[in-house]
Amino acid sequence: MKRARLPVVVVGGGAAGLATALALAPVPVRLLCRAHDGSGTASALAQGGIAAALDSADSPAAHAHDTLLAGARHNDVAMVQWLCAQAPAAIGWLQTQGVVFDRDAAGHLQLGREGGHHVARIVHAGGDASGAALVHALRERVQQAPHVQWRGGVDVDALLLRDGAVCGVRVSDASGHRQEMHAAAVVFATGGIGALFAHTSNPPGADGSGLALGLAAGARARDLEFMQFHPTALDIEGAQCLPLITEALRGAGARLRDANGRPLMAGLHPLGDLAPRDIVARRVWQARHDDGRVWLDASAVTGDWNQRFPTVLAACLAAGIDPRRQPIPVTPAAHFHMGGLAVDADGRSGVPGLHAVGEVACNGVHGANRLASNSLLEGVLCGRRTGALLAGMDAPAVGRGAYRWVERGAGLPPAALGALRGLLWQAAGPVREATSLRRALQTCVAQRDEGWQIGLAQRLLAAALERGDSLGAHHRSDAVMVVEA
Ligand code: SIN
Repeated sequence: MKRARLPVVVVGGGAAGLATALALAPVPVRLLCRAHDGSGTASALAQGGIAAALDSADSPAAHAHDTLLAGARHNDVAMVQWLCAQAPAAIGWLQTQGVVFDRDAAGHLQLGREGGHHVARIVHAGGDASGAALVHALRERVQQAPHVQWRGGVDVDALLLRDGAVCGVRVSDASGHRQEMHAAAVVFATGGIGALFAHTSNPPGADGSGLALGLAAGARARDLEFMQFHPTALDIEGAQCLPLITEALRGAGARLRDANGRPLMAGLHPLGDLAPRDIVARRVWQARHDDGRVWLDASAVTGDWNQRFPTVLAACLAAGIDPRRQPIPVTPAAHFHMGGLAVDADGRSGVPGLHAVGEVACNGVHGANRLASNSLLEGVLCGRRTGALLAGMDAPAVGRGAYRWVERGAGLPPAALGALRGLLWQAAGPVREATSLRRALQTCVAQRDEGWQIGLAQRLLAAALERGDSLGAHHRSDAVMVVEA
């Protein structure tokens, strides 16, 4: 009798997970998400859009140049060239999946500009609701796809290994009910770690759970110290997960001002308010330390906000600010983790059977600092690449050894998690130095048995301490940094 083919388990319902699941057809897929409806992903919150050299005056080489410059040339060059060369086709594929990108009056795709880009090359969907539009379209495709079984409301808290290979997962739901699932392979698309910081533009689920579990299973970490801080999240007193104020607003003419109304970025970088994110974020961080609040003046932004920036408009109005008339208070916020599980170009983690795509993975494409609007692009392209690879592979040979569970372990209680977020924000935020990093590391070592988040923080702090120089988003105030314009 022919044995039924085991499914590939994909963990995560953001851009990377959805793209992976679609590309796996006709191989059976189990797509596991924490939220019942797949919401709550960082992809769905992405406002910036997708970068691609679509203009006749632009080129993949120019896109690659900007990607390398933002990434402080710490990037994997071949990955960058591949990503930028594939970007126009990715836009075409997304359109075939039902994503409707914004067009100008003549019917051409509207191209916007964001930090670190020397030309306008960002496409948006629904104005600043690009991520939501993309996730909505791909989720519909996935939910209609006969090869994908969707399972929401579950957390993957253990991996099953046999003969050194990952061959299953254990999930638990909100009521604590556990279930074990065997798998031909497991793909982590679990997102980043922004929610481990006191201020983040990420959703609460971006807590590094997939990264922690992958490391526990023996996967290698890469570039953990490189955390990108977005310069402009809405500064809401006492809140941790903050609405993003998209960089596209600065691309449309908004300007940062200090507490006295003076232009914040004047004379600091040739690209001014559109300098790479790490530079702007550090300036905002410094100005908040020196003089108090920092403001984004968007009064010069023209056009219909309901069409161009509906997400920003709604978030500001909900906080009692009309951004068309009033300056927006902003703060840096943990936004994107360039580091993660070390993977090759096809998403292989080095642990047989375990793959990773999107923000949880580090294939080197983003270097030390991701270029704006390259994240949805990477999620979609790498997800499709890994999905296609697995779809073309034979089912793994049946192992003979004993099964072994690798567990993520218990999480921190809420008060301790709050304290850890504050610790990481202060010691491993936009500006770092050895003494605070060392102290924070000692605190984590002393508390290492209290929850899996501590182990992750410990590794990040150790990596940040080890890299004594500044590079990209990792800024050591006790070191010298060279900036390439
Ligand atoms: C933004 O809209 O400012 C963020 C876009 C991105 O993270 O690439």
